[in-house]
Amino acid sequence: MWTSLVCVVLVTSPGGASLPLVVNTWPFKEAAAAAWEALQSGGSVLDAVERGCRRCELDQCDGSVGFGGSPDETGETSLDALIINGDTMEVGAVADLRRVKNAIGVARAVMERTHHTLLVGESASAFAEDMGFPAEDLTTNKSKGLYTRWLQAGCQPNYRQNVVPDPATSCGPYRPGPGRTPHRRPPPTDLRAHDTIGVIAISGKGQVAAGTSTNGANHKIPGRVGDSPIAGAGAYADSSAGAAAATGDGDIMMRFLPSFLAVELMRGGAEPSAACTAAVARTKRHYPEFFGAVICANTTGHYGAACNKLPGFPKFSYMVVSAETRGPSLHTVDCF
Ligand SMILES: *[C@@H]1O[C@H](CO)[C@@H](O)[C@H](O)[C@H]1NC(C)=O
Ligand SMILES: *[C@@H]1O[C@H](CO)[C@@H](O)[C@H](O)[C@H]1NC(C)=O
Repeated sequence: MWTSLVCVVLVTSPGGASLPLVVNTWPFKEAAAAAWEALQSGGSVLDAVERGCRRCELDQCDGSVGFGGSPDETGETSLDALIINGDTMEVGAVADLRRVKNAIGVARAVMERTHHTLLVGESASAFAEDMGFPAEDLTTNKSKGLYTRWLQAGCQPNYRQNVVPDPATSCGPYRPGPGRTPHRRPPPTDLRAHDTIGVIAISGKGQVAAGTSTNGANHKIPGRVGDSPIAGAGAYADSSAGAAAATGDGDIMMRFLPSFLAVELMRGGAEPSAACTAAVARTKRHYPEFFGAVICANTTGHYGAACNKLPGFPKFSYMVVSAETRGPSLHTVDCF
């Protein structure tokens, strides 16, 4: 889907500096517009991040955010989200959230209405309902169809290894199998078509916030949580340095805290695009075949992105909005 959105005019040179600023992963233009609108109407950077993510949850961006996408091995959709206040370093996150559509709203409620940072699973759903979020079925005809076709295909592809019966040919239930295959085997290519909305917002005063929302990985094992709701992995923000957000193979990327790494490199003086490149390179050193991208912005409103080049993934697209862009503008970076 990201390849089909080429209608947006490039107004600024990549990396240009102007505050306030919104940057988000993928060509999720409506999300960028919603985040920008929040800032323009007097909202905080947290409001901008929440609105941007919320827009994608409602629009089911690419089927990879919000309800009705990425059914797990039982056919259920569950959601992960994260929000970070870079001024106070307050963080709220929710993972494996079931039956509640507004994951980013629940993440913000965790931040603002508890002293915790991360709530998960059924207990997170109970918390959300207590906080007034409606319980709804996240299943749609589309996610039912995805699940039915996966069952008909013998539960292929899936995320199992070293179990019996052979997960490459059979459905479960699985038991531990003999032996162990090399741990660097990348996930099957057709499981890689999952993205995440990650939003960075910086106010005119340099207040920084970041957040993510996703429905995780298609056909994931129930209970699986990726990088998106993990602070420092899916996103990171610190008003004294900048912000970053990541998208891609979360199971792999979360091992390297790419968003934290990028923000720390910017704190040390790295340009945003160099910080993003270094974060991708760190993961690539161990997993050359990983699918992923990182967006970065520093406190003066400079920004950049980087991605790992793969067959079929030569470029990564992201959205930028600032006073200079006069509306959401599509940016593209060549992967390396
Ligand atoms: C879902 O599928 C059912 C049966 O095929 C159909 O009756 C219903 O209108 C569909 N709903 C949507 C929202 O497409
Ligand atoms: C942000 O990055 C730009 C280069 O892209 C650099 O010129 C600027 O000094 C950086 N700002 C801060 C606060 O480090």
